[in-house]
Amino acid sequence: MCGIVGYTGPREAYPIIIKGLKRLEYRGYDSTGVALQNGGVKVYKKKGKVAELEEAIVGKNLHAHVGIGHTRWATHGEPSDRNAHPHQSSSGKLAMIHNGIIENYSQLKNELIKKGYVFHSDTDTEVLLNFIEEIKTNNSCTLEEAVRIALKRVVGAYVILLVDADDPETIIAARKGSPLVIGIGKGEHFLGSDASPMLEYTKEVVYVNDYELAIVRPDELILKNLGNEKLTPYVQKLDLELAAIEKGGYEHFMLKEIFEQPQTIYDCLRGRLDASNGTITMSGIQQYADQIVKASRIVIIACGTSWHAGLVAEYIIEELCRINVEVEYASEFRYRNPVITKGDVIIAISQSGETADTLVAIETAKAKGAIILGVVNVVGSSIARISHGGAYTHAGPEIGVASTKAFTGQLAVLTMIALKIAYIKGSISHERYMHLLNELQEIPEKVAWVLKNSEHIKKIAEKYKDARDFLYLGRGYNFPVALEGALKLKEISYIHAEGYPAAEMKHGPIALVDDSLPVVFIATRDAYHEKIVSNMQEIKARKGRVISVITEGDEHSTSLSEDVMIIPEADEIVAPMLSVVPLQLLAYYIGVAKGQDVDKPRNLAKSVTVE
Ligand code: G6P
Repeated sequence: MCGIVGYTGPREAYPIIIKGLKRLEYRGYDSTGVALQNGGVKVYKKKGKVAELEEAIVGKNLHAHVGIGHTRWATHGEPSDRNAHPHQSSSGKLAMIHNGIIENYSQLKNELIKKGYVFHSDTDTEVLLNFIEEIKTNNSCTLEEAVRIALKRVVGAYVILLVDADDPETIIAARKGSPLVIGIGKGEHFLGSDASPMLEYTKEVVYVNDYELAIVRPDELILKNLGNEKLTPYVQKLDLELAAIEKGGYEHFMLKEIFEQPQTIYDCLRGRLDASNGTITMSGIQQYADQIVKASRIVIIACGTSWHAGLVAEYIIEELCRINVEVEYASEFRYRNPVITKGDVIIAISQSGETADTLVAIETAKAKGAIILGVVNVVGSSIARISHGGAYTHAGPEIGVASTKAFTGQLAVLTMIALKIAYIKGSISHERYMHLLNELQEIPEKVAWVLKNSEHIKKIAEKYKDARDFLYLGRGYNFPVALEGALKLKEISYIHAEGYPAAEMKHGPIALVDDSLPVVFIATRDAYHEKIVSNMQEIKARKGRVISVITEGDEHSTSLSEDVMIIPEADEIVAPMLSVVPLQLLAYYIGVAKGQDVDKPRNLAKSVTVE
């Protein structure tokens, strides 16, 4: 996690860095800092969000044409001024920012302490920086060489940016495991964890790969591998507009992103789904269609909200394609020597495309001969690049830390993949296939319908905002939606919430039910409807407060509920894209009513690039 920004060129560096860091706050916001080349390397840093640093250093001489900046998500050492990045080397000449974890830092630290180094922070970053300085001094070499030598000893993940008082125009950057983008301007270069800090200046970018090192000057970008061989930078054109990363009149990014869903789902289906001709065009899936159809199993790997999308996909793929599906937490999968045989198909789901555990899990499976299909939102991200094939979700930049539009985009892509495979395999009737294509096509319009009830959901949120716990229950396709609803509430309101399969609640959670517990049922009309209505009765009999997400016109469920949130009629396969929307809004409005910073909830980060 952590966001990094760098600039070298003729403009004032500080405003570019600060604006860039604000755009990267989704990656962490425990503390902020900048290092500016201003007659020596000047470092300003502070615990707290970017705006707090900005306020604290008003009036200082921040004039510089070269600088680096960092917004932190703490790994080693609590969030504090002294643990904030950039760190300065013992001599004060070098400053460095880091995104990642140096796993063997304590060994390196002990070696340096024996040589008389004193550390001023608890971070692994300060250790690596002094290790680099030690090599530079001992070998009388350039900073670039010292970095290269140091990185050969480093175990862990990193993106690092360094500046050196003795070489004031240059930024040295290196990457392994965390993302780094370099923007190419005219006589200037920009660096960032993603492309957002450079959007208004350039559309030409280079995505730096693992084990690459960049020497960045205003007029020059030199890319090398750790063996000191020069590489040709692969320059790509960015397809991203500034408006996509701004709030556009909404109070929060999360609300904007919830309301964007009719458009983002439409964008995801556009050019792929042709309901009138009965076709789904997905070239990144088509290429591997033979192998997928023959696969004896599909393993879905993801984390967080993406894992919930994977769970919905398990139900859909098994139902439509009759292929065995397993859904794995990437962090568990990577460490337990999983059984993967050649020809197994892995679907990796990730909004950011940078989640460290998902990335390593894919590498593990790839090494064992699996075919990797990525369902990824961020174009050009690491997971997108290491996958054999797959499909982008095309949800656009998601900035609110709690994932919303990426989730519905993932569901849309995964449903299309399932339908495509089922069609090729012949495991679905023509009639059902055509019906589901039409159902899918109608989703954007139906999501817009659900969003029209947002004021009603806001009132429900105000009514229940002081509850201590929430229970979310669903069955079948709506069980993962219950998990996702509970996760959304936890993330942004800090209310304890649990998602459970509705029938399973009898084996434990029912003990929690009393007249103060809101129980949210995702009880839309589907094959399990009668069953979940019985579960509602059971909760009501114990005086639990039933709130339900129901299909329009369901009088019976309405009579059993204290409050209802309504979705339009839809086939159960596509219904999760609708039933999750009221839960996103409920969580959002409760978070706001409780005064929480919903776009930047405490302790969380959007992109988890550490394991
Ligand atoms: C973090 C985010 C979640 C996200 C999860 C997986 O926890 O806060 O919103 O679902 O990471 O991220 P990915 O980018 O791989 O989907």
